[in-house]
Amino acid sequence: MTKTSLQCRECKKEYESTFKYICDECFGPLDVKYEFPPITKNTFTNREHTYWRYFELLPIQNKSNIISINAGMTPLVKAEKLGEKLGLNNLYIKNDSVNPTFSFKDRPAGIAVSKAKEFGLSAVGCASTGNLASATAAHAAKGGFPCYVFAPSDIEHAKIAQALAYGSKFIAVDGTYDDANRIAAQIGDSKGIGIVNINLRSYYVEGSKTLAYEVAEQLDWQVPDHLVVPVGSGAMLNAICKGFEELQNVSLLGDVSKMHMIAAQPHGCAPIVDAFKLGSSDVIPVENPDTIAKSLAIGDPGDGRYVLKRLKQYNGFAEESNNREILDAILLLARTEGIFTEPAGGVSVAVLKKMIDDGKIDKNDTTICYVTGNGLKATEALMEVLPKPEVMQADVAKISAVVK
Ligand SMILES: Cc1ncc(COP(=O)(O)O)c(C=O)c1O
Ligand SMILES: [Zn+2]
Repeated sequence: MTKTSLQCRECKKEYESTFKYICDECFGPLDVKYEFPPITKNTFTNREHTYWRYFELLPIQNKSNIISINAGMTPLVKAEKLGEKLGLNNLYIKNDSVNPTFSFKDRPAGIAVSKAKEFGLSAVGCASTGNLASATAAHAAKGGFPCYVFAPSDIEHAKIAQALAYGSKFIAVDGTYDDANRIAAQIGDSKGIGIVNINLRSYYVEGSKTLAYEVAEQLDWQVPDHLVVPVGSGAMLNAICKGFEELQNVSLLGDVSKMHMIAAQPHGCAPIVDAFKLGSSDVIPVENPDTIAKSLAIGDPGDGRYVLKRLKQYNGFAEESNNREILDAILLLARTEGIFTEPAGGVSVAVLKKMIDDGKIDKNDTTICYVTGNGLKATEALMEVLPKPEVMQADVAKISAVVK
């Protein structure tokens, strides 16, 4: 069993690993700290094809508390055709859109709901821009927990349907994600509900670091040169950095300090990109996000400051893409690699393209583009730009005339 504790990201004070997420001394966020057992590459061979293969590096103490819907170990696709179009020889898509609930959120949600079981909590929930809703709801269903979702009322239809189908109580808040988040925080604390991305956040973020572990293992334990990550709250980008650092600490990877982290945000909600471009270490919140990338519409990103630090630490960049560029990128990815992503993935691909055009990525660099959500969850914006198929009479002669 791996020994864990909680440590304040700011003042470094340590705490026992309990249901706690903020430092008593300085109100900084708490991170899980580990004393890892000896680990080798062979530790993970012949293990299950889910992120639970990295059990020793995760914060669950007892395997009986694992609530798994078999997420993770998603394909790392060598994107030959997209690479050719963009001018890269070593481009990889981490296709996390094929997780069980069709986004990367199955990773953090699975760890947090398992931890809720380990803590003996009786209900779970989340504040969501859409994808976390179904990821939390599905894990709650599997674990037998009631689940409360707090989300803006204007998120995509499919995401609401999906979360409801798993049996969650869906609270559609007439407001922004930040409004939903504030309400979830207050209700979670007053009613003792484990809100996966708020009062269980220290554990939740640990799930997303498996996006680093898998990429490293799939690259046969090589360190990539560039990583393009879509950013909302910033939790995932921060967790990916932590994941690579931990692999270096247990000697599974060489020097990770040469990696370049690239934060991708949508125009209309790009507070981290704005701060990066101003050279500021603080993020000014966007009050009313306006973008088709609704899953990234977090105006006041909880980990914004830490993303800016990570970009400095990892020779990084931050860039935005507008709605038109996002839609073009969705189609480019679909039509080259056969991968259909939602706007968040379009943001990654569009920003990747800008980085290449700006000469920030060399054609032989190993580049990972994280595609984190599935296109079927967000067809609304795309349907507005795609031609509607004309309904035709079921007549071979007439139809064969239009098949060239
Ligand atoms: C598909 C998708 N990608 C990326 C993100 C951004 O993750 P984070 O909020 O950890 O930055 C989200 C957040 O909801 C998402 O749903
Ligand atoms: Zn502290």
